[in-house]
Amino acid sequence: MEQIVYVDGAFVPAADAKVSVFDRGFLFADGIYEVSAVLDGKLIDNDSHLARLERSVGEIALALPETLPRIVEIQKELIARNGLIDGVIYLQVTRGAVIPRDFVFPKEAKPTFVMFTTAKDIVNAASAKTGIAVKTMPDIRWARRDIKSVALLAQVLAKQAAAEAGCQEAWMIEDGQVTEGGSSSAFILTQDDVLVTRENSSAILPGCTRKAVMKLAEERQLRVEERAFSVSEALAAKEAFITSASLFVQAVVTIDGQRIANGRPGPMTNRLREIYLEFARATAV
Ligand code: PDD
Repeated sequence: MEQIVYVDGAFVPAADAKVSVFDRGFLFADGIYEVSAVLDGKLIDNDSHLARLERSVGEIALALPETLPRIVEIQKELIARNGLIDGVIYLQVTRGAVIPRDFVFPKEAKPTFVMFTTAKDIVNAASAKTGIAVKTMPDIRWARRDIKSVALLAQVLAKQAAAEAGCQEAWMIEDGQVTEGGSSSAFILTQDDVLVTRENSSAILPGCTRKAVMKLAEERQLRVEERAFSVSEALAAKEAFITSASLFVQAVVTIDGQRIANGRPGPMTNRLREIYLEFARATAV
């Protein structure tokens, strides 16, 4: 079955899905993206992702080309047209294609709006059972990481270095503290059973999965603390894990080759993964 991609109002075969070389997303990374998970053909925690999309575009003074209800309709149609059961749906909006190239916002530009799906078995990923290895990297990103911008070069380089070191994620380090993963939020469980994740600010992306996991944990009387933590604190922790739309909850078992606890996913991480999965299935649309 040929993949179908959404481009500016049309559902087209992937080979015909094209945007201009003058697109500001391509030239300036002047655009915003979102990724939502799909389970059993349904969108997971999508309202949270669309709320963040609305906020991100607002922060760069970019108007959404469609209303949020219409975006959900397009997402659903694209999922159906691709027969997607499990995976992710990616969407991107840029400030459009304008000639000549100019840094200043164009007076009249039609935003470019694309969406595509990727099949992925998130629930049965092997790494959910084994946990993942993390490599620390200096956080060289810009100062507005709360905006889900398509400018991802720092993450590309960090995640490439991690992959070359045999790791599945990079943990970004700034002033001796972990900010977040290259494409995930970072958590630890301290020896006295406090769940710790960095507070939201312009230093990190406000993760939708992070938010849901924190709420689910608090509802179960777990202590959650939003603060920065260091790599040595993470190495001394009971457990560590990452969260994202494309992974849900995944244990981190080593950092720079050093084991956390016994080097296996911990019981709290496994439990939170189960709890998140229940939430995801129960609220899918
Ligand atoms: N990345 N932090 C960063 C820098 C991210 O890129 C992501 C998500 C997250 C987790 O956010 P959420 O739980 O809302 O997915 C945190 C997506 C999955 C990506 O770039 O593919």
